Amino acid sequence: MSSLDSTLSVFRAVGEETRLRIMALLARGELTVSELTQILGQSQPRVSRHLKILADAALVERHREGAWMFYRIAGGAEADPARDALVAAISAIGEDGDRIVARDAERFAQSRQARADQAAAYFQENAAEWSRLRNLHLPESDIERQIVDIAGKGSVDVFVDLGTGTGRMLEIFADRFTQGVGYDLSHEMLSIARNNLEQAGVTHAQARHGDLFSLPMENGAADIVCIHHVLHYLAEPEAAVREAARILKPGGRIIISDFAPHDLEFLREEHAHRRLGFADAEVKQWCARANLRLERTQTLSPTGAGKGAAKKLTVKIWLCAAPAGVKRLRARSAA
Ligand SMILES: C[S@@+](CC[C@H](N)C(=O)[O-])C[C@H]1O[C@@H](n2cnc3c(N)ncnc32)[C@H](O)[C@@H]1O
Repeated sequence: MSSLDSTLSVFRAVGEETRLRIMALLARGELTVSELTQILGQSQPRVSRHLKILADAALVERHREGAWMFYRIAGGAEADPARDALVAAISAIGEDGDRIVARDAERFAQSRQARADQAAAYFQENAAEWSRLRNLHLPESDIERQIVDIAGKGSVDVFVDLGTGTGRMLEIFADRFTQGVGYDLSHEMLSIARNNLEQAGVTHAQARHGDLFSLPMENGAADIVCIHHVLHYLAEPEAAVREAARILKPGGRIIISDFAPHDLEFLREEHAHRRLGFADAEVKQWCARANLRLERTQTLSPTGAGKGAAKKLTVKIWLCAAPAGVKRLRARSAA
């Protein structure tokens, strides 16, 4: 329950134009201070001061990753109807066509597009080299074995690989599914994936052009969704997990494989990474909000045997499951 004081501090915090604009922007998605500075057209110290006031009122939360500070609308796993109502009201500002809010929204979209273009350019440039590059970061064969193991024994009908790249996950799971599909936005990566699948004799999987944030798939169609080595490139990793959850069958599973938090800033500049790994707590929060259960977490510590970054990067595999479904719930309540 909110006290008079905390309610007043919330209203004081949002009762200012720039701070309202910041809240409206963060309601669209997580942003760094420098992205906010560019979108708002204000100095960094000024934006930081506004952000501090919003953070003190528990309206936004921040987390530092290397040289970047990320901000997002505050929100634990528990629902907070008052905060959600406030954020919904702020998100609706500008629906009447307010010029300033509309311009902020346009700049937000441009900032996201610039980020996506930067990553796309990286993959376009490195598509042919990807099989070599993915081994530079990590000893891939160990990780692949663990990813297949965590999926458990037995076969499934539909396997979906998001950000399939060269189609490697489709290849290593090929004997476990009846029908496989890998989505990617990079035509360069897709043509390599098609070639690799053909070479490997995998005829029951397809590499298709598609955006993992809005998949051309029905709700509840997939048994297993794999997201390997993709989320750290994305501006909205949680939205990717939400979309993966949407296409899961009841009882279906998502296998996420990515890095634990690290401080290798050069991966941003040289390899288009946006996020420097993910903490278990963050993945757990995504799961809770997407109505998934985090079933298992596996940690693959660096062996020191790899080259360069591989010596320092810890890989995590998270297994997330969708609720078993209406049928089972009905059976239980009838019992
Ligand atoms: C690191 S690469 C490939 C990783 C691949 N899963 C593997 O195991 O090697 C990440 C891939 O994600 C793709 N990607 C990035 N954003 C995407 C999006 N919004 N929709 C679909 N694919 C995306 C990139 O084009 C790239 O091929």
